[in-house]
Amino acid sequence: MKDIKILNDPDAVASEAARWLFQRVEASPRRFSLALSGGSTPKLFHRCLAENYRGTMQWAKLEIFFSDERIVPLDHEDSNYRMAQETLLNHVELWPQRVHPFEVDKAPDLAARNYEEKLRSSPGGLIDLCILGMGNDGHTASLFPGHSEPPGWVSVIAEPGPGKHKRLSFTYNTLQQASEVLILATGEKKAEMLKRVLETSGDLPMQKLLLRRAENTTFLIDKAAAKLLEQSRR
Ligand code: 6PG
Repeated sequence: MKDIKILNDPDAVASEAARWLFQRVEASPRRFSLALSGGSTPKLFHRCLAENYRGTMQWAKLEIFFSDERIVPLDHEDSNYRMAQETLLNHVELWPQRVHPFEVDKAPDLAARNYEEKLRSSPGGLIDLCILGMGNDGHTASLFPGHSEPPGWVSVIAEPGPGKHKRLSFTYNTLQQASEVLILATGEKKAEMLKRVLETSGDLPMQKLLLRRAENTTFLIDKAAAKLLEQSRR
């Protein structure tokens, strides 16, 4: 079961995602594990958090993870960690020891194992809220179409295509076990894939993930991304 919330535009999606997180962190009786996503969509969400919740969010309660990462230096322009730093982490009062970038300087398999251990020792035992995006090919995190099911909780993935970086990614297992997943998708370019993912069955990564999550999975999308969905879903 997934929910679909359609908002006016990308700013409204970002604001709703920020409100969503704020409410859950406030309500949490313990530290709260949040997994951030890469890509461009989350940037507005991050900036909204930094600008509108800087003085009200209980930042010290947050344990920050990443659903995936390119295996590049953390200051590389393609690094998800660097994007998060620039749009959020550098602007709010997080506890540095509770922000968990991947160890991209270590052997990928070791980095994956170490991250799994970090996840296992996180406050709730796993991720409380996982923010995800969706690629136009139906991928999410670094789980790409046509790839076999990666084992464990964190896996090393070779992104298809020339000149692409190797990646570290949560597996379907980890995404399935997250207490809650918010999928952010905005813009006309997402419309066709959203229709396919939400209205047909198949084995695209996002479709596989939805099959494995019975509840607590919400799409926050804007009208442009929703424009091809059946009227009943709007
Ligand atoms: C990444 C993300 C990836 C992203 C989608 C959507 O590291 O790039 O994990 O899965 O969420 O590619 O990206 P956009 O938000 O840029 O459309």
